Amino acid sequence: MRERVMEHELGLDFLRVVESAAIASARTMGLGERKHSDHVAVEAMRKIMDTVPMRGQIVIGEGERDEAPMLYIGEKVGLGHKEGVTDGDTYPEVDIAVDPLEGTNLCATGSANAISVMACSEKGGLLHAPDLYMQKLIVGPSSKGAVSLDAPVKENLKAIARRLSRDIEDLVVIVLDRLRHKKLISDIRQAGARIKLISDGDLSAGISAAVAGSGVHAVMGTGGAPEGVLTAAAMKCLNGQILARFVLKEQLEDLEDRDRIPEGAVERMREMGITDPARVYDTDDLAPGKQIIFASTGVTDGTILRGVRFFGTGTRTSSVIMTTDMAAEQSKRIRFVDTVHIEGGPDTVVRF
Ligand code: FBP
Repeated sequence: MRERVMEHELGLDFLRVVESAAIASARTMGLGERKHSDHVAVEAMRKIMDTVPMRGQIVIGEGERDEAPMLYIGEKVGLGHKEGVTDGDTYPEVDIAVDPLEGTNLCATGSANAISVMACSEKGGLLHAPDLYMQKLIVGPSSKGAVSLDAPVKENLKAIARRLSRDIEDLVVIVLDRLRHKKLISDIRQAGARIKLISDGDLSAGISAAVAGSGVHAVMGTGGAPEGVLTAAAMKCLNGQILARFVLKEQLEDLEDRDRIPEGAVERMREMGITDPARVYDTDDLAPGKQIIFASTGVTDGTILRGVRFFGTGTRTSSVIMTTDMAAEQSKRIRFVDTVHIEGGPDTVVRF
């Protein structure tokens, strides 16, 4: 029975967690201070996390303990781990992945698609991925199983177009605007597809690719591995697909990109249980959990979620909570939640 309990008890709690991180960071929108925006999101998320009736452990977080004071990998979170709580061991044991502010630059500049995110699964249900780069290919339910990370870009685009009953020219592919994607961008252009270059935020882009009507049909290119695991958690709920593999220093041409990969990356991977650095991961390898909860709140206005709105006597947030439960006949629920947080007392007006 614990399986069901996770969804029923934690979904709304997670909503509170991502809403609070989104509200805190949205207050800093446009200030041009990405680290500060991230910091307030982390603090807010951490605070609410400890009110959630669970025994959680961070597996995707803000980094190692020595570089992140809160939400670091391995940190125990949740009411069940709080000192003085006597019935803590009755709460579900879960692994947690967080990105309190995905798109720190987007928030700092007031650009679209900054979001706050967390996901959880039963223990062992999310890959423990080090903070390295991953090459990713993300598609929605219609194109699932039709693409390959090793296929030429044109072949993948042809396959996606076929599955969506349209021409390649009708497709929109999101790519992070980075020097490392020069060839990828040129290949997509040559194949004839349209491109949306984004400055940051391949996680929200991945979610868009799996939601019909968003106008996005695929995400291609190299971005953060932690974002890859969170994308996989979302794909499990949305029936989409992510294919990914780690990218090491020597595979990156751009020197700035190379500098972002720490020395000893392969050893770090090994410590985290990754023995084959060249392995191609499918959605289920990145998020093998049978029960997944994924929650996200918009910080700035975006493709799927609206940003936080402050209206003097309150705040309004737009979120999505997605759950998948293989134990309960593959039940999946995607809830879009519009919350009004009343802060102005008994005369506050709630608008439709
Ligand atoms: P932050 O939220 O940490 O700023 O990351 C945003 C992001 O754009 C991710 O969406 C993406 O996966 C990654 O950074 C790309 O990394 P880089 O900026 O090093 O190319």
